[in-house]
Amino acid sequence: MFDLVIVANRLPVDRIKLPDGSNGWRTSPGGLVTAIEPVMRSNHGVWIGWPGGTDGDEELFSADGLDLAPMSMSAEEIELFYEGFSNGCLWPLYHDVVVKPEFHREWWDSYVSVNRRFAEKAASLAAEGATVWVQDYQLQLVPQMLRDLRPDLRIGFYLHIPFPPAELFQQLPWRRQILEGLLGADLVGFQLPGAAQNFVRLVRQRVGHKTHRDLVYLPDGRTVRAAAFPISIDAKGFEDMARDPEVESRAEEIREALGSPRTVFLGVDRLDYTKGIFARLRAFSEVMKEGHFGVEDAVFVQVAVPSREQVEEYRILRDEIERLVGRINGDLGEIGRPAIHYLHSSYPRAEMAALYRMADIMVVTPYRDGMNLVAKEYVATRFENDGALVLSEFAGAAEELRQAYLVNPHDINGMKQALRDAYDASPKESSKRMKAMRKTVTQNDVKAWADSFLLALSQVGTHEKEPRPT
Ligand code: G6P
Repeated sequence: MFDLVIVANRLPVDRIKLPDGSNGWRTSPGGLVTAIEPVMRSNHGVWIGWPGGTDGDEELFSADGLDLAPMSMSAEEIELFYEGFSNGCLWPLYHDVVVKPEFHREWWDSYVSVNRRFAEKAASLAAEGATVWVQDYQLQLVPQMLRDLRPDLRIGFYLHIPFPPAELFQQLPWRRQILEGLLGADLVGFQLPGAAQNFVRLVRQRVGHKTHRDLVYLPDGRTVRAAAFPISIDAKGFEDMARDPEVESRAEEIREALGSPRTVFLGVDRLDYTKGIFARLRAFSEVMKEGHFGVEDAVFVQVAVPSREQVEEYRILRDEIERLVGRINGDLGEIGRPAIHYLHSSYPRAEMAALYRMADIMVVTPYRDGMNLVAKEYVATRFENDGALVLSEFAGAAEELRQAYLVNPHDINGMKQALRDAYDASPKESSKRMKAMRKTVTQNDVKAWADSFLLALSQVGTHEKEPRPT
């Protein structure tokens, strides 16, 4: 039995088959893992999640000092719960309908049954009075299901992605069930205050509970708090890695392999339609075509981490981006000098640090993003206060990293201007901006995020200053 139980759709590692047929493990993709792993290491707990694939083995095991409880998933559940409801409905709906969400009743049924299995697993592993911290949009029904099974637990929920305005959330045929699922938690955490406000407003309108500021009062006397806890990264860990001489020499090696251009632009994203990869490459290519810089002066390195490849929209996006890269390189590249270096692959953290170190301008242009940890990782590695960040206003990180070159990714001309400004900036100007951003990132690291969430979770209902409304 465990005193801290993390429940997330994914384990921090993916199960893979090694060439000799035995099982191996590889760090799984995405910001969530990066954020929660350090918390797990400092609190002895267990992490419940899916190890990828369809293996039915649910034996507890440890990897790298972490206790892990794998949840199996059938091929049908992967299709209906994971690719379908989670990533074909909730993901686009919560990201401001960047693509059209689909509402299918069989997807919903699978979402309910998979959420129930996660809740049952958590109920079976949590010690009396334990804290259970449920993560992200795939598991929004778990808090209430778990409370029904184990009223003794303290339950927190954290949404890593945006929570949409009521006007969009209302489209969801199961809007009330999702709200009620979340209200099973004592504390519901969001990236930004606006998301917490969207949630409280929806609870008042759609479920009819009384609310006051960030509190929801349930008829059974329980209080639920909804508040913002902007997530961050292990800033020191990233900086230490960036200072490693091996990383530094790898960074130099990469720059040389690129032909030692004066300026390297870098994009690093899961290959996702929310990330604005297409628009950013187009903007870069137009600036180059207009002669602001040539291929000897500047190149763009775009790392696109494979993601959700069975989902139709992701396949379409991959084709579109790869066609665009081909066209740009065909138009602007020279022998041995493509304008865009495109890599469809994921890399270990040390290689990522080397990429951040060698890049002069990091370009992060999502149409909507809960936080975007890549932006913060880049800043953490710039210990010499050099480099520039071009950042979308629609990433949660923009609320903290005000000294970035902020852009509206729907505005191609505005984005072109920001790329030119970052390219032309004097070292003094860049260093002033980076210094301020580094201060923000190093002061608010992931440990502070987790500590403040867990502290607030332990306090809900214990010292309410506000009188209950009658
Ligand atoms: C985002 C989500 C995570 C998710 C990750 C990777 O960061 O907030 O919940 O795990 O993307 O996506 P995947 O579908 O591969 O788990």
